[in-house]
Amino acid sequence: MRRPKRFFVETWGCQMNELDSQRLSSQLMQQGILPTREPQQADLILLNSCSVREKAAQKAYSRLGEYRLLKRSRPDLLLGFCGCVAQQEGDRALERLPDLDFVIGPARVGELEDILRQRLLGRRVVATGFPDATQRNYDLDLLAREGAYKGMVTIIEGCDKKCTFCIVPTTRGPEQNRKMESILDEVKHLLDYGFLEIELLGQTVNHWRDPETGEDFAVLLNRVASIPGLERLRFVTSYPRDFTQEMVDQLAKHSNICPYLHLPVQSGSNRILRLMGRGYDIELYLDLIERLREGRPGIALSTDIIVGFPGETDDDFEATMDLVANVRFASLFAFKYSPRPGTAAPRLKLPEVTREVADDRLQRLFALQKEIQLEINQTLVGEAFDILVTSWGKKPGTQTGRTPCHRLVHFEYGDEPIPLGTLTRIRVEKAYPHSLIGGLDKVDSQVASESSTEVMISA
Ligand code: 5AD
Repeated sequence: MRRPKRFFVETWGCQMNELDSQRLSSQLMQQGILPTREPQQADLILLNSCSVREKAAQKAYSRLGEYRLLKRSRPDLLLGFCGCVAQQEGDRALERLPDLDFVIGPARVGELEDILRQRLLGRRVVATGFPDATQRNYDLDLLAREGAYKGMVTIIEGCDKKCTFCIVPTTRGPEQNRKMESILDEVKHLLDYGFLEIELLGQTVNHWRDPETGEDFAVLLNRVASIPGLERLRFVTSYPRDFTQEMVDQLAKHSNICPYLHLPVQSGSNRILRLMGRGYDIELYLDLIERLREGRPGIALSTDIIVGFPGETDDDFEATMDLVANVRFASLFAFKYSPRPGTAAPRLKLPEVTREVADDRLQRLFALQKEIQLEINQTLVGEAFDILVTSWGKKPGTQTGRTPCHRLVHFEYGDEPIPLGTLTRIRVEKAYPHSLIGGLDKVDSQVASESSTEVMISA
């Protein structure tokens, strides 16, 4: 019997890229091509790249270089370059790598089948650019979502903001909103399929508007959260200035909207925020956080911060440290500024922050955040939470999952493992800065959820 063909996908970057990889995989599986975890066994390798920072972008070419070596012994192997670096590079990638088979930008993911067909006819296709959303293929097929514990649903693609550091508007194009009905259909489809958790995706997810009715993200949240059977609803990434009181009200109204919000602030200094072109000041950000915490007590907040943006002084950085100390984020992602081609910041001719200074600031920020996270996590010891089981642990007999606030929990499962993608009640026994250790909760969950502290605290 002939060996079935196999594919391997390597994914870098954000949830959007993760979902794009799922969409690529599902198109291949529909054609009878099977996934493999070993690139050496693959007949087709796809590299889904990220260009948000220089390091990730460089990585793309070095990974392609490694995969090309496999072609030496197996000339039939196909190699496809996907994602945001592919979008940026386009034809250049084919010139640079003569044995690269095709290039697909993020807005052209739905065309893989056709691109492969063309390759068999001898054509090396470069599919980049941004066709109108109505012409894009949203392939709702769910095959490749198997094994993923959450159902991801794109609601808005691209970005119209003009943050001076950010390459996303170039790589993912202008904003394209999906229609409400199409989003609701996909969510229902995923729930029928058995997902308990849905994650709505967009670079500026809360800027979504229905392209026909103009209804906004607050209306969408209300509609999605009201769908029967939806246990957990998340969305990422929210833009602070676009987060309206009506959206805060939806978080207050629907307990199945997770008490967790990723709200990138980027800097604690108003001067730097202006240079970044963020369109809000710290006062607006803090006011929003206050209203979120009022509307949804116990909500966990996470953020992104860039250190060493050109012109950032010691005082600017201290303002960021103060913000972090005051807000007490549940988690924080921090990056050294990295100039990206075509963005406005390098043209502002601001004084560069040296690498040593940026490194030092990053370390100080991480150290402060680690302390805060440990303190917060220690307050959770002894509490019980419903955990969505997401993966197997490294130690035999253990699994990992996420609290409603998205905290990572490791636990021993006892006699039988808990099916991935289902909920189980875990009591926290030990806290680390980046994770919790827990055990199966012996108490009947109904009794536990009736005690008042359990209801108040969200992990
Ligand atoms: N340099 C460093 N970090 C960046 N980010 C985006 N662009 C850059 C850049 N040029 C960070 C931001 C963003 C996160 C996804 O990546 O903090 O929120």
